[in-house]
Amino acid sequence: MPKIIVAIDGYSSCGKSTTAKLVAKQLNYPYIDTGSMYRAVTLYFIQNHISVSNPKEVESALGNIHITFRLHGESGKNHTYLNGLNVEEEIRKMYISDKVSEVSAVASVRHALVAQQQRMGKQKGIVMDGRDIGTVVFPQAELKIFMTADPTIRAQRRQLELMEKGELVGIEKILENLRYRDEVDTTRAESPLKQAEDAVYIDNSLMTLDEQVDMVVRLADEQIGLTLRKRNFGEG
Ligand code: DC
Repeated sequence: MPKIIVAIDGYSSCGKSTTAKLVAKQLNYPYIDTGSMYRAVTLYFIQNHISVSNPKEVESALGNIHITFRLHGESGKNHTYLNGLNVEEEIRKMYISDKVSEVSAVASVRHALVAQQQRMGKQKGIVMDGRDIGTVVFPQAELKIFMTADPTIRAQRRQLELMEKGELVGIEKILENLRYRDEVDTTRAESPLKQAEDAVYIDNSLMTLDEQVDMVVRLADEQIGLTLRKRNFGEG
């Protein structure tokens, strides 16, 4: 079977990662959550007092940052490692969410991470989620999804997620963070979040997780079939 690239972009906390992970499992592809890479860089910048307004400092810090993913035990979940340390739990905390949009708006940060993401998808057969996967990282991806949901629903989902990890945050604070990140993510000069022209738009406010996953897997299967026909018969 030919392998394809599935690019899933969309707003913060709209269920992209949960959907992408399950889609990847069904397709038997690796899954890369690019948001976790921007979060890991943010953690490094905070820990090492790197100022985003100092290009030299940022450039030399980027040379010292090595982000890897390793499968974690039975869960089959990819954990994020920063310079060999498992930072999966730390990077999900609210103090990282508060700072990550600022860090991910820096052009040199984006260039470094986009280059790494492109290397990871070179052989295809990958599901990647983020903000610019279908527009910048893999504009040639066979399947592009643009996902969104009502902001209040996104905030409730995020609150539950944080609660499950033992962090209690009020809904207003979460909504404020989501609105702030939406604003920065969609208006930044460097690869802002926007729907690729050929992306399939999914508003999942009223959809169950199973429905979303089924829909994306069905679209992926269609693309795999199309790629196979093109390869065999030179169609399209
Ligand atoms: O998906 P997430 O909420 O964990 O992402 C964290 C932040 O990283 C998000 O506010 C925007 C940024 N991001 C980005 O700019 N480009 C990506 N491809 C992925 C995430």
